[in-house]
Amino acid sequence: MTARVLAPFGARTTNVVARRETGGYVVFTALDADGPDPAPGQFYMLRSEGWGSQGGRPFLPRAFSVAAAERTADGVRLEFLVEAVGPGTSILASLGAGAELTITGPLGRPFSEPDEVNPGAPGAIMVGGGIGVAPIAILRRHLTEQGIPGRTLLGFRDEAHSGGLELFGACQEVGLAFEDGHRGHQGYVTDLLQVALKGDDAAAAAVYACGPPVMLEAVRAICAERGAQAELAMEAPMACGYGACFGCAVPLAEGGYMRLCVDGPVVRADAIETALVAGSGHR
Ligand SMILES: Cc1cc2nc3c(=O)[nH]c(=O)nc-3n(C[C@H](O)[C@H](O)[C@H](O)COP(=O)(O)OP(=O)(O)OC[C@H]3O[C@@H](n4cnc5c(N)ncnc54)[C@H](O)[C@@H]3O)c2cc1C
Ligand code: FES
Repeated sequence: MTARVLAPFGARTTNVVARRETGGYVVFTALDADGPDPAPGQFYMLRSEGWGSQGGRPFLPRAFSVAAAERTADGVRLEFLVEAVGPGTSILASLGAGAELTITGPLGRPFSEPDEVNPGAPGAIMVGGGIGVAPIAILRRHLTEQGIPGRTLLGFRDEAHSGGLELFGACQEVGLAFEDGHRGHQGYVTDLLQVALKGDDAAAAAVYACGPPVMLEAVRAICAERGAQAELAMEAPMACGYGACFGCAVPLAEGGYMRLCVDGPVVRADAIETALVAGSGHR
């Protein structure tokens, strides 16, 4: 497993240094002067100025995957891709340069390397859906830097519910699917995965996925049918982000539960009972 990077104790105050709109989403960049470089798949608990301003909401910090991280002389620049769906995400999506942002992280278990997901895997097949493209972007960059070949498949509902494509650069093949068909394949990104896993070498594949629960459940089913191994970056409602509240419990295939914030958010597809976790948000 890629080493889990441990968060420094407590929350840190950072500043937003850049913001840009990308399709229907927003990317904002925070400069973390004191924190370590995160591993792909890890997340941060975020809150900012304006927190609690909407009738007391949002009360708790919110969880966000890191989409890109770059070490500079002043600290690590962290990029987050946000879709405004409620009070917390709306505040974060509106933050401009100079805004104060409080972060805890990096948290959770990162993605494994392809040969740890499936020994002998020739590379990676990465599948992102909607705002779930965020951790796939940093994973893709990490694998590219190591010279590990990868195929990236991204799916969105429509133009308004898409964005972040520029996080993927141009150095690897990117397959696109839009449900409304205005660009790329008309249909689901899992249609592209079905095609990618056709053939005799499917059982050697290392698949990585992040997206809405129905997409992740479809990825699980396709990989199980083809004998491919997969890791999923999942969502669950998170109150603390570090194992204290049990709000993020996900049922395990062998019985019992894991706390997604410390035992995930990256999980082996065959370790969980289902990816259809109630209250995880994304449709
Ligand atoms: C590990 C992890 C990583 C995450 N990474 C990202 C990320 O990179 N970018 C990102 O934008 N979000 C990400 N999320 C989801 C994000 O944390 C939630 O969208 C956020 O908590 C919503 O907070 P809110 O205050 O805006 O809305 P809430 O008050 O929590 O919810 C408002 C309403 O929106 C619904 N809702 C909540 N979340 C979503 C959602 N994601 N999509 C659609 N409807 C939703 C709720 O059911 C509710 O009806 C991640 C979650 C986890 C657990
Ligand atoms: S969010 Fe509190 S235990 Fe996971």
